[in-house]
Amino acid sequence: METDQQNLPAHHQGTANLENSPQGGNHRQATPADNEVGLILGKKGSGKTTLARWIAAHTKRAVILDTLGRDYGGGCVVRSPDSLRAYWERVKGFADFCVIVRPPDDRTIDAFFRLVRESTDLVAFVEEADRYCSSWKMQKDLEWSLNYGRQFGQSVIGCARRPAAIHPTWRANADFIIAHNTQEPNDLAWLNEFGFDPEVVRDLAPFRWEMVGQTNLRLPR
Ligand SMILES: Nc1ncnc2c1ncn2[C@@H]1O[C@H](COP(=O)(O)OP(=O)(O)O)[C@@H](O)[C@H]1O
Ligand SMILES: [Mg+2]
Repeated sequence: METDQQNLPAHHQGTANLENSPQGGNHRQATPADNEVGLILGKKGSGKTTLARWIAAHTKRAVILDTLGRDYGGGCVVRSPDSLRAYWERVKGFADFCVIVRPPDDRTIDAFFRLVRESTDLVAFVEEADRYCSSWKMQKDLEWSLNYGRQFGQSVIGCARRPAAIHPTWRANADFIIAHNTQEPNDLAWLNEFGFDPEVVRDLAPFRWEMVGQTNLRLPR
């Protein structure tokens, strides 16, 4: 059976304290050139978005797909393909920016993934990632970025509730996966395949998480 554990020896556990985390878990701030592929998993209310928001706030050149349109602030908010393109043209040469896409329609969602695919040196955050993939299909530009974006400095970090609903391409390319508590047998089996200890994940306290893999992104601790 195929395994996705190839480069994933490291375990790291996070605390819930997001406010007092000046240094995070890493020695330096990641740059977009680090090309990270990651997943933040957990059931509704487990703290995925809060964690992703923290990471995004400590990441340069962030583009965020705020799927529900209410989870992110502190950046330029765009709501259409045209305004996304126009804003991107203005900032793409800058060292730091944060673009928040609140998609009113599928065109804007597709424009987000097309922009990520066609760009270099950026960190894409995808909220409710399981809306854009299932265990057997995936938004095409997203799939391309997961498979080949490394060569173009594209990082993709997704938040999702159900690991079992995530496309194998994402897991196969993941540098790290963060899991919050779950009791769901299918999800625990999926996490186990990736190198998590199901007993540990089952016992995680609220807002605590376990990470398998490695990342240069800054994490709260
Ligand atoms: N580390 C934390 N400590 C305390 N409260 C938290 C923490 N993380 C999230 N929360 C709170 O829990 C609620 C759900 O968090 P959220 O990040 O939206 O979860 P999810 O995205 O997994 O549904 C929010 O009200 C949030 O403020
Ligand atoms: Mg959320």
